[in-house]
Amino acid sequence: MDPYQETPKTWNTIAKRYEEVFMNLDIYNASYDRFCELINNDNASILEIGCGPGNITKYLLLQHPNYKIRATDVSSNMIALAQKNNPTGTFQEIDARDIASIKKSFHGIMCGFIIPYLSKDDIIHFIKNTYTLLNRNGILYLSFVSGDYRDSGFITGSTGDRTYFYYHTTQEIKKLLLSQGFTIKEHLMIPYKKTKDVFETHTLLIARK
Ligand SMILES: C[S@@+](CC[C@H](N)C(=O)[O-])C[C@H]1O[C@@H](n2cnc3c(N)ncnc32)[C@H](O)[C@@H]1O
Repeated sequence: MDPYQETPKTWNTIAKRYEEVFMNLDIYNASYDRFCELINNDNASILEIGCGPGNITKYLLLQHPNYKIRATDVSSNMIALAQKNNPTGTFQEIDARDIASIKKSFHGIMCGFIIPYLSKDDIIHFIKNTYTLLNRNGILYLSFVSGDYRDSGFITGSTGDRTYFYYHTTQEIKKLLLSQGFTIKEHLMIPYKKTKDVFETHTLLIARK
């Protein structure tokens, strides 16, 4: 089955469960603060891609109530939760592969764990599109799990539903950002306890156009 068909269906099914577990996770807050600090504009316009239940939007709006946030996700159930959790935000069902259809520019683009759902080819277009969508000096935030592309594949959760998870190395993502014209401002690594015995390292990159 096409990963790009099955993955959104799964996110629709597990949206509520994801909200329960991740809505108030605070381990990335310092990196969100750094993103905002680099934007340095209390009235910034922000695009979020793959917003899930609106957890990051909620945090950003709590810190910066004047931000104008437009948040997108491929899953209609995620969009409904995000809207419920952020009555003042603007939410829209858009596939990350189609962001070039957005006709506006932004001071910041937030991409929390969206690139693990994009193939190597699609990431090249994705990074190009984020560059185009950013204002001059705009800030891009990316988080992902660094790994060998050959280890990408379907991951089955406790409900039996599957998502296709793509690994990209930090080196490859950095190379792509630099070749596009971004400057890398931060490279952060956050330890994350996935299950009782499994630990992962989450990589966060913040770049300036
Ligand atoms: C791991 S969650 C991340 C949610 C939130 N950004 C965070 O960091 O907690 C991944 C999100 O990406 C969305 N997603 C997966 N594939 C997508 C695609 N092709 N386009 C847009 N969103 C996608 C899923 O629906 C899900 O909400």
